[in-house]
Amino acid sequence: MSSYYPGEILISRDKISCRVRELAAEIEKDFDGEPLLFIGVLKGSVIFLSDLARCLNSKVPVELDFLAVSSYGSSTKSSGVVKITKDLDEEITGRRVLIVEDIVDTGLTLHYLTSILGERSPKEIRICSLLDKPERRQVKIDINYRGFEIPDEFVVGYGLDFSGRWRNLPDIHVLRTTS
Ligand code: IMP
Repeated sequence: MSSYYPGEILISRDKISCRVRELAAEIEKDFDGEPLLFIGVLKGSVIFLSDLARCLNSKVPVELDFLAVSSYGSSTKSSGVVKITKDLDEEITGRRVLIVEDIVDTGLTLHYLTSILGERSPKEIRICSLLDKPERRQVKIDINYRGFEIPDEFVVGYGLDFSGRWRNLPDIHVLRTTS
């Protein structure tokens, strides 16, 4: 019987930490002094969001909120079915929001989220994703702040899981299977 395990490191903790600081600098420049609501998509974005938020200087007044959407379960392929399982606590009408995601794969999750959140009339919705897997995209997504483009591999670590596991790994690994 084959089993899955975190294989070679695709992106090291040092590279992640440098890139997170660069993304924070871009966000600071764009939102200089303007209030911003981070919307973290649970659970994959939690580690990235915490690091990103702590890299921002105190000139950007940031608030944090979270929502959860249905995810892949134990499969590595998208079901294409997305639904909100935990909604925001905050109202977003008239506010500038930044959706913080771990990875954009098919794009279906963000396509759905931006349309649902757009109906609540925010002043602006921007997207920040640590990873971008463009080869599998099914719908166009404008990612305003993107950490790394990666090939079509399933990855775990730094918040990303397979069947609930390996979110706590500090580096990002390619998921491998024993044969
Ligand atoms: P999308 O809707 O296909 O863009 O998928 C977005 C979600 O799928 C992400 O927020 C992740 O939860 C999950 N996902 C996609 N690719 C990976 C991966 O390589 N590792 C872990 N989770 C992934």
